[in-house]
Amino acid sequence: MSKEVNEAVSSFLEDVLEGLKAQHKYLPSKYFYDEVGDGLFRQIMHMEEYYLTRKELEIFEREKQQILEVLGRDQPFRIIELGAGDGLKTKVLLRYFQEQKTDFTYTPVDISGNVLEILGDNLKSEIPNLKFDPYEGDYFDALSQISDSHEREVIFFLGSNVGNFPKEEAVSFLFGLRQFLKPNDLLFMGIDLKKDPSKILAAYNDKEGITTNFNLNLLDRINKELNGDFNRELFLHYPYYNPHTGECKSYLISKEDQSIRVGDEIIPISAWEAIFMEISKKYNETQILELAEDTGFKPVASFYDNEKWYADIVWEVKS
Ligand code: AVJ
Repeated sequence: MSKEVNEAVSSFLEDVLEGLKAQHKYLPSKYFYDEVGDGLFRQIMHMEEYYLTRKELEIFEREKQQILEVLGRDQPFRIIELGAGDGLKTKVLLRYFQEQKTDFTYTPVDISGNVLEILGDNLKSEIPNLKFDPYEGDYFDALSQISDSHEREVIFFLGSNVGNFPKEEAVSFLFGLRQFLKPNDLLFMGIDLKKDPSKILAAYNDKEGITTNFNLNLLDRINKELNGDFNRELFLHYPYYNPHTGECKSYLISKEDQSIRVGDEIIPISAWEAIFMEISKKYNETQILELAEDTGFKPVASFYDNEKWYADIVWEVKS
């Protein structure tokens, strides 16, 4: 095994053991996305109940002209997209910007070189002459390497990925981003909004059980990569939305007393004990303004779908 692979395995193991030994057990949702997890998330994006992807696409298709006005037609800019994935939604904007003869470069950032290669092949054939300059690695490494004092940088952070942070972590993440940017740079971010709680809960509790599998897949991944022995049959998927906090949280609940081996350790789990898996936080407009205020940004534009279920906001770095 290479040194890099080794290090990745050991922090995965450390994170998993720390979570399973905590008083309230948890597993970090950033580990959902192995090859199987990527595939399940792609299925989730096409589900009837999972409105987020559809709403963001609707916003891009309807507002692309306004979005380009805000990003700045008259000055060259670089889009740095954090966690680009398959670029399905971003493509709508990239194609339009290119048709409008905008001077811009597209820099998707992803830890998976494979994802970037597939995206690159796809974009080269679909959007001729696009200036494509990908970065393989960590978000903050990317920002420290790419940062440039000449061109405007526009950070894309789409899909309501910010919802995977609890409030305090969202603040420190955005404040961290802010430190890599210069006055006049922009953040373009997708945020899922508070709405009828039953619509939110349904998005994380689909009838077909794809979201259940998405959560259980992390147990399978632990078995494969960390020599674990989870039995997925012994867990229930339980999502819960709290309309006060706007937090939708997913848990896996043990159906019986059991012991799990992970690496060299044995971890007891009681009947009906919960493992917290993922948070997907929802905001309202006031909270979004507060978030900008707390992290050194100034809101410059907001775009909504026609039901106001979802927002794409543009913030400028405050000097
Ligand atoms: C990709 C983090 C935005 O939280 O809505 C989808 C992941 N989890 N269904 C979300 C997810 C369960 C998704 N994000």
